[in-house]
Amino acid sequence: MAAKVIDGKIFAAGVRAQVGEQVLRLKNEKNIIPGLAVILVGEDAASQVYVRNKHTSTIEVGMNSYEHRLDSNTPEVDLLALIDQLNNDPKVHGILCQLPLPGHLNEELVINSIIPEKDVDGFHISNVGMLATGQKSMVPCTPLGCLMMLRDHLGLLSGLNAVVVGRSNIVGKPMANLLLRDSCTVTIAHSRTKNIESICRNADIVIAAVGQPEMITGDWIGDGATVIDVGINRIPHPEKDGKFKLVGDVHFESVSAKAGAITPVPGGVGPMTIACLLANTLTACCRSNGLEEPEGLTA
Ligand code: GUN
Repeated sequence: MAAKVIDGKIFAAGVRAQVGEQVLRLKNEKNIIPGLAVILVGEDAASQVYVRNKHTSTIEVGMNSYEHRLDSNTPEVDLLALIDQLNNDPKVHGILCQLPLPGHLNEELVINSIIPEKDVDGFHISNVGMLATGQKSMVPCTPLGCLMMLRDHLGLLSGLNAVVVGRSNIVGKPMANLLLRDSCTVTIAHSRTKNIESICRNADIVIAAVGQPEMITGDWIGDGATVIDVGINRIPHPEKDGKFKLVGDVHFESVSAKAGAITPVPGGVGPMTIACLLANTLTACCRSNGLEEPEGLTA
């Protein structure tokens, strides 16, 4: 039977609507408007698109958006001074510095200079450590989006076998920690893993986050498994000369013949990332004001 296709566009629209309702409630009842500051250093084309989309979505849910565009030659001390100013600005509840940064800037230093409470990316070393030790933290947006979709589709995840293919700091490792927190039995597989196909075939949940176009094929997947595809790869179009096509890390056609549910690319995990950034900003705002956190929008 063909897999159910989990529509990330619809799911993300639902998350944004929930965030929007909570933002309105905060405004009406507490006179508080959540604010997100986004810093872009340089002119990287993809980053410019992401930052524009983040700005538009932030405004659409009724939050304040503060955009800071800096020259690609900006000295590190100037960037750190801006972050310090935003760390101390009570109107700003979330800070995101768009990556990658130009080569002369130390990404680790920059990320760790954002205070953990405003680190809506969940990349600060304190947030990483708190997630790993099961404490309340800011959680990276993409894994949070995957978790929301899994909980929605499967209900309780307790006891399920989950395989995360990919060990990045941004997706693979936090995803594994989130699944562990929901009492899954978690395996992290990667380029050196032996018998990777049979490990995946035994899984109830497969999260693909390796950055290899269509690497995971139907024969890797057990009957009825839930497959979440985090990959976004641009490959030459097989039928249209000179054109490109977006594909995931999962071979959609063969995997959807075996899986119980699958996220497509595009239109699966992608739209959830910005929705979860907004959810994280709302969470950060509630926490900083000593208010209850929005239900269903955190890990
Ligand atoms: N560049 C690509 N994705 C991301 C992200 O999720 N956060 C930041 N800060 N930069 C990115």
